[in-house]
Amino acid sequence: MNFKYGYPLNFKNWLDEHAHLLKPPVGNQQIWQDSDFMVTVVGGPNQRSDFHDDPVEEFFYQFKGNAQLLMWENGEYERVHLKEGDIFLMSPHVLHSPQRPEAGSLCLVIERQRPTGEKDAFQWSCARCGHVLQRYELELKNIVKDLPPTYERFYSTNEAERTCAKCGEVHPGRDFESWHATLKASHPNL
Ligand SMILES: [Fe+2]
Repeated sequence: MNFKYGYPLNFKNWLDEHAHLLKPPVGNQQIWQDSDFMVTVVGGPNQRSDFHDDPVEEFFYQFKGNAQLLMWENGEYERVHLKEGDIFLMSPHVLHSPQRPEAGSLCLVIERQRPTGEKDAFQWSCARCGHVLQRYELELKNIVKDLPPTYERFYSTNEAERTCAKCGEVHPGRDFESWHATLKASHPNL
């Protein structure tokens, strides 16, 4: 028969064949194209300072190494650990920022195509007080292609646009390490 997504494939072989793409600078690969389920493998190391607001559920299977999801809700942060072997189902609109500090770590992530008109958003917030600095909404069609322009839009903001209206802290833009250092210093228990 002619199966749209082909016959079963051996996951380990797929991982071996795509190993060069599961690390920087690419870091993720979608297994089947044009499917309702967007099944991707995400590798480390990769860290970021943006938070993703997804209108659909996300499933995580951290099958190699450890990672974390930094969560944001109403200005509060929480760190959720994805330890090797953990599975996690996240409900829609939980603002999350995956942190994958370990080289060679691998996570299976499953999302589905967004219903027409349902928007994703990417948000950047103050590392010191949690106040939202910028939020961009978009109709996400392609995870790989639609994201870089959104990041560039934030990175091209000027300092005034990255200055927290609440506490005056300046978001360092592209420099995620500096943002995480401020987060750590401001939230010792996080
Ligand atoms: Fe702030």
